[in-house]
Amino acid sequence: MAKYRIAWLPGDGVGVDVMEATRTVLDASGFSDMAEYIHGDIGWEFWCDEGDPLPQRTLDLLAETDVCLFGAITSKPKDEAAKELSPELQDKGLTYFSPIVRLRQELGLHTNLRPCKGYEGNPLNYKDGIDLIVFRENTQGLYSGVEFSPVPEQVLTALRENHPKMKAFEGVPADELAISTRIVTKAGCESIASQAFEYAKNNGYSTVTLVEKPNVLRETGGMMTRAARDIAAKYDGIELWETNIDAMCMWLVKNPHDYGVIMAENMFGDIISDLCAQLVGGLGFACAGNIGDNYAVFEPTHGSAPKYAGQYKVNPIATILTAKMMIAWLGEKALAEKIEAAVAAVIKEGEVLTYDMGGSHSTMEMAQAIADKL
Ligand code: IPM
Ligand code: MG
Repeated sequence: MAKYRIAWLPGDGVGVDVMEATRTVLDASGFSDMAEYIHGDIGWEFWCDEGDPLPQRTLDLLAETDVCLFGAITSKPKDEAAKELSPELQDKGLTYFSPIVRLRQELGLHTNLRPCKGYEGNPLNYKDGIDLIVFRENTQGLYSGVEFSPVPEQVLTALRENHPKMKAFEGVPADELAISTRIVTKAGCESIASQAFEYAKNNGYSTVTLVEKPNVLRETGGMMTRAARDIAAKYDGIELWETNIDAMCMWLVKNPHDYGVIMAENMFGDIISDLCAQLVGGLGFACAGNIGDNYAVFEPTHGSAPKYAGQYKVNPIATILTAKMMIAWLGEKALAEKIEAAVAAVIKEGEVLTYDMGGSHSTMEMAQAIADKL
């Protein structure tokens, strides 16, 4: 039996292209000799045909594997998604919910780790030498999924009776109101803060930057800020920098070298990680891991880019670096470093360039160039 059982979920759109490319690199690295890849269904076509983009059989498969590598999936707003359901599934009251968000929640993948490193020679580096890592809380906050529209009468009554600011919405019909909640727990805030500080300690960083907005989001932002301060107090020599999300977007562009370890609630982490990715070449370079206590799902930060699906045009480096993160998480640190070195060497040489880098090499040509270095 293989040492590692990998749930292999390409998803849809360019997820399929970049996963095939990544396989080429994994084979060349020797990792495939230790691994069994087991294909799982996930994505838009399963929503349209079965009414569930994340079928139960896929969840069962994940339960039997050590880790999951995932490509990308198309996500559409509620009404658009409902229209694309196959005719026999229409009017069944099915609601589309992002399968990756569901995976994170159902599997308790509480931490989204998003390193953004500017590799030497990348023509897309905003500035050279940028090296950031985002710790995004991954299951709570504004993406908890507790939302209402129309708002049930009981919910409205409870809010009206308990919050004076609900006066501003008096007289608005329930079906003209929408509510998305931002729910955080002390444990969730402390967990993301602990991981950010632990990482800072183990990797020689002297600061951790919290991205929040506690001056406006007083309760949730307040709880996150207090948790970060409590954890910071346990780490001598590592300073907590408290920033607001809006100002942080500006500071990151102005002085990206000032920052290293960044921590944030779910939505702010989502936003800031795209900004960090752009500083080091864009989503073609942005890798990520959804980490839980005993299981993890690794996925590039980018989406499914349906307009490029099947064209083998997009940059596979994000997914190759994502696979490298997976291999490190499995404990094969030396192999992970070898893969990263191969990626870095190809970027530095600057001879193979996908379209985002200003060239015309294909997804597979980039993968092959990296494989050749191994
Ligand atoms: C990401 C993506 C997802 C998210 C979407 C596809 C639900 O933007 O992983 O950053 O918001 O988490
Ligand atoms: Mg995102």
